Amino acid sequence: MQPWYSGARLISRGQPGDRMQLDPDDERILAGEEGETKAKMLELLVALGKVFGAERFVPIRSAQVSGASYKTIGEYGLQWLNTLEAKAVVPSVLNPIGMPRGRWEEMGVDEDFAQKQEAVVAAYARLGIGLECTCTPYYLKQTSYGDHLAWSESSAVSYANSVIGARTNREGGPGALAAALIGKTPCYGLHLGKNRQPQVIIDVQMATRDWTIADYGALGYYTGKLVGNRIPFFTGIRPDYDQLKALGAAMAATGAVALYHVGDVTPEALRQRFVTTGLEKIPVEVRDIAGIFRETPVEAVALGCPHCSPEELKTLSRLLTGKSVTKPLYIFASQGVIEANRLLVKTIEQSGARVYADTCMVVSPVMERYASVMVNSGKALAYVPDMCGAVARIGTTEDCVRVATE
Ligand code: F3S
Repeated sequence: MQPWYSGARLISRGQPGDRMQLDPDDERILAGEEGETKAKMLELLVALGKVFGAERFVPIRSAQVSGASYKTIGEYGLQWLNTLEAKAVVPSVLNPIGMPRGRWEEMGVDEDFAQKQEAVVAAYARLGIGLECTCTPYYLKQTSYGDHLAWSESSAVSYANSVIGARTNREGGPGALAAALIGKTPCYGLHLGKNRQPQVIIDVQMATRDWTIADYGALGYYTGKLVGNRIPFFTGIRPDYDQLKALGAAMAATGAVALYHVGDVTPEALRQRFVTTGLEKIPVEVRDIAGIFRETPVEAVALGCPHCSPEELKTLSRLLTGKSVTKPLYIFASQGVIEANRLLVKTIEQSGARVYADTCMVVSPVMERYASVMVNSGKALAYVPDMCGAVARIGTTEDCVRVATE
């Protein structure tokens, strides 16, 4: 195989075939000429490349780094971050943290946690990671078809691969951070076109219903368990962008789906003629999904998993105009989307609901105070019980607002 850049050389990293092409800059970094942190980060990327059979690196357009909430990273992670000395060399954003910066007291976050969380944020800021703190970086950073990325939050990875047609593996937090600091990632897995072909067909038979975001979340919740880590190809549905976001987020939660295709909808399905003959075909009927919607008591309602789009804020503003909440109603979105939709947010908050940036129902410790939470997201339905210890119920956005205001 030819080197991918002039002057490349192959360095054996152990087993026959375990080779990564390193360029002179890589050699300098590995020799510590740009500091110990960058040397260690590149070593990590080389090791990942070796494990996954990569032969070269690929430059990335952006990185998205998880391991941001003190609830998940903890003291050990914070101490490790504080040992690092380097700066991101590509646009990079942080995943949601455990509280809304600037509004943590209002949300009821305790002061000890807030201080620790601020320390985590400061550590990432020192490393040059942008503090957008969102799982929807695609609303803020230009991300295009064919871009190579190193993103780590599973719903963001799914959206980038499936809805945008960009290319990213689901990076662990350290791998994404290393890629942000080095500017490239090992080229394996979903960075390669040959690994992006459908592996199973999901034939959705749903002609009688006008599906909502929650229905697509429930579809993802159901099918994620069936397909595991395979790449599904959907037929019989025509979701819009927010519905695609809900579908992918849920499949990444109950399965390990980092890429899916929808016939005549998603970009690679539109540009390529996939060969699907011989693939397993799984039929999904409306009744399979309907069983996921159950009426159970609710103490609080939480929306915005993944973080709300402008269109979702618009819907919520319309539904909440002239109403008052009778239960806590949390809505999560990125700071950038909130800033750009101030009037909608004002209308929503006049109802008593709260629109918080930086955090979410799963990574904030505040949600642990509720025994039951209603959501409109298949991903939240999967994660809230484990991460918050609450019973989760899924309903449409309209039902969530009705329950929060009745
Ligand atoms: Fe985003 Fe939190 Fe859901 S990170 S996808 S809102 S669990």
